[in-house]
Amino acid sequence: MTLVVEPLVTMRGAIEVPSVKGICQRGVLLGAIADGESEVRGFGRAADTESAISVVRQLGVEVTDVADDVVRIQGKGLRGLVAPAEPLDCGNAGTLMRLVAGILAGQEGEFTLIGDESLSSRPQDRIAVPLREMGATIDATDGHAPLTIHGGGLHPIEYELPVASAQVKSAILFAGLFADDGPTTVVEPAVTRDHTERMLTAMGARVTRAHGKSSVWPVESLQPLSIDVPGDISSAAPFIVAATLLPDAVLHIRNVNVNPTRTGLLDVLHRMGGRVAVYNRRTVSGEPVADLEVRYAELTATHIYGPEVPLLVDELPLICLLASMARGVTRIRGAEELRAKETDRIATTTEALHAVGGHLQASDDGFRIRGVPTRIRGGVVESRGDHRIAMLGAIAGLVSAEGVEIEDAECVAVSFPGFFDILDSLRAASVGA
Ligand code: S3P
Repeated sequence: MTLVVEPLVTMRGAIEVPSVKGICQRGVLLGAIADGESEVRGFGRAADTESAISVVRQLGVEVTDVADDVVRIQGKGLRGLVAPAEPLDCGNAGTLMRLVAGILAGQEGEFTLIGDESLSSRPQDRIAVPLREMGATIDATDGHAPLTIHGGGLHPIEYELPVASAQVKSAILFAGLFADDGPTTVVEPAVTRDHTERMLTAMGARVTRAHGKSSVWPVESLQPLSIDVPGDISSAAPFIVAATLLPDAVLHIRNVNVNPTRTGLLDVLHRMGGRVAVYNRRTVSGEPVADLEVRYAELTATHIYGPEVPLLVDELPLICLLASMARGVTRIRGAEELRAKETDRIATTTEALHAVGGHLQASDDGFRIRGVPTRIRGGVVESRGDHRIAMLGAIAGLVSAEGVEIEDAECVAVSFPGFFDILDSLRAASVGA
């Protein structure tokens, strides 16, 4: 599907965005091995979260869609998952494949994980190596999916992550629940998102997190979850960026997860001169939540280095757009992980922003972006099937002089099926404002 996004003069309105994808996926996976019924409210329907439901159903778990945004999961207990005859299809979802692998490493039986073309090209050695070290047998195809896992007989390890990745950390911590002793410890080169540690704690597991180390002890059982999931800052990000770049804009985004391991975009915006107010701070189901007010601001360039990258990793394509319209030269370094995402996002972000008139150069581990504080030209963006690149193209269209045509725009449904509906409603609310 090709979609054209016309320029917008300003932006006014109040929105909510889909709930944290990774918490929904973790809720389904951990609910599947809990003792009893878990409920996840504010469940965000998207291709990636539906893939998590279909994978646990294949493993013999009953999942009930109580409402569009409520799911109940009948947990099978820690070791009750049943190996299906067919491979488990993770679709486009890297988080799902890495996290479920950690759980399957603790089950009896043989499990095969497959994914779509993009997921099949992403590195899986990063989980296979530590899970093997714990005692699981994992066969990968040249370091990629399909992955075949023979679980059971796990030992605790202390593992230093070669790359800062919450997905890899989570896979190891999940496997640590099944180890014959404890603790299983993950040492991080930089702080990554901690949804896993918070959720395991809520389910009664012993988890510690300090000085760059996360540890988990084995459990006999996990208590079921009952959680309300707040909006995902990665889904709020396109609108935060649009409102920042559109003169006179005032946008409210309610009920957003502001876990400090996820809010790197807000820190970067603050340095650049952005005007985002974070108010009504509260804690919901163990996660920090707030409402945001975003106003138009004139931006100046900034620099982003390695340790900050995990705190904003999925927002970097949009940050490149911000930098393209800021005064000065922005450098982003230590972001080589972007090459292992749904697409090589150093390449696809550079291609997309060149196509709309941006001035940036890719390097091995990031970007050099020369900002021009005026509307970006516009043009044609190939999403390459990557939801975050399609949304980047759409926001570039809003803040452009000539509009942007997005190829394969339907891939936004991987994380945010209602993205273009919200965009249309904001356009209707903003015209004449
Ligand atoms: C995720 C972690 C990040 C992020 C992904 C979701 C998670 O990946 O890019 O979208 O839920 O743990 P890495 O931790 O591999 O960087």
